[in-house]
Amino acid sequence: MKAIQLEKPQNFRPIEIPEPSAPRPGEALVRIHRVGICGTDYSGYLGKMPFYSYPRIPGHELGVEVVALGEGATNVKPGDRCSVEPYMNCQQCFACQRGNSNCCENLKVLGVMMDGGMCEQMILPVRKLHPSRKLSFEQLALVETLAIGCHAVSRGNPQPGENVLVIGAGPIGLSVIEFVKLSGAKCIVLDLNQQRLDFCKQKMGVAETILSKGDGSELAALKALSGGTLAQLVIDATGSNQSMSNALNYVGHTGKLVFVGITTQEVSFGHPLMHRREMTLLASRNALPPDFARIITLIEDGRIDTQPWITHHAKFEEMIDVFPSWLRPESGVIKAVVHV
Ligand SMILES: NC(=O)c1ccc[n+]([C@@H]2O[C@H](COP(=O)([O-])OP(=O)(O)OC[C@H]3O[C@@H](n4cnc5c(N)ncnc54)[C@H](O)[C@@H]3O)[C@@H](O)[C@H]2O)c1
Ligand SMILES: [Zn+2]
Ligand SMILES: [Zn+2]
Repeated sequence: MKAIQLEKPQNFRPIEIPEPSAPRPGEALVRIHRVGICGTDYSGYLGKMPFYSYPRIPGHELGVEVVALGEGATNVKPGDRCSVEPYMNCQQCFACQRGNSNCCENLKVLGVMMDGGMCEQMILPVRKLHPSRKLSFEQLALVETLAIGCHAVSRGNPQPGENVLVIGAGPIGLSVIEFVKLSGAKCIVLDLNQQRLDFCKQKMGVAETILSKGDGSELAALKALSGGTLAQLVIDATGSNQSMSNALNYVGHTGKLVFVGITTQEVSFGHPLMHRREMTLLASRNALPPDFARIITLIEDGRIDTQPWITHHAKFEEMIDVFPSWLRPESGVIKAVVHV
């Protein structure tokens, strides 16, 4: 069957791989219909993703159909449309034993540290499938991106009426915004890019945005928007160590800061600021199984509108040629989806 492999950075190639064998107990054979492309795929392509190894079949944001099941599967049946939780955890380590499969000590993410879903069919653990009767394959492929924001907001646990500052309005920031809105907190978005802020206002229903000019005016703007209290929760989704180091300035007294963006650089800050305001600093990695089920219900019930999200499409055969164009900011990509 056909697959697309990232042989080395900047070098995709079509390949033939063997058909998967029959599913064993606890496994499912699935047909892949849609693959969402995200920042991880772009950094893997550019050779800038530290956890990525080559050659690799990418694809971790998947909308799939169950073809056949091994023994013991109760959560899905053949023909079901599913979203896939792409975090393959060991089920043995301390984190797994505590139910934190999102940050397993031996975690392998599909399409990053092991071959993913840019192919026709694959075998997956049945416990990683989250079915929906209503959602399209495209919507199911979007669930994982939304899960990143869902988990980050759960970590910060904002309360109705609080001020939440989201820094960075890329796809991960947008997924954070969806769940800040659902929490009933007030969402303020900060970015360097006016176009992305405009998108938040026009398509995401965000009332307040702040353009980062790097001249200190951002803090004054946040003070004005928050009645002087600053943000009770700041979620940094930039992946910029400069932004992450500076983000503490926006956290009000007793407030929290969540790092959902990832940097390989050092993050540093003066401790008195953190101490004086008694801040809480949190990391957010991947997402938990109940996040997937929750998001599917939210989309089914119309409480999350996926319509603004999917901006670009490509057929499987076109993907290799089209992919580099999605890297250009002027293409305006939020989420590109490949039709397998
Ligand atoms: N927590 C997780 O499990 C997880 C999962 C997937 C991706 N990520 C990470 O999330 C981050 C964001 O991903 P994305 O796809 O949305 O990236 P992106 O590059 O599309 O978006 C980042 C946004 O941040 C803005 N930005 C950059 N520096 C800034 C600054 N100093 N001040 C204000 N805004 C700034 C950019 O203009 C851009 O709009 C990345 O670091 C990615 O690796 C985390
Ligand atoms: Zn992704
Ligand atoms: Zn584990």
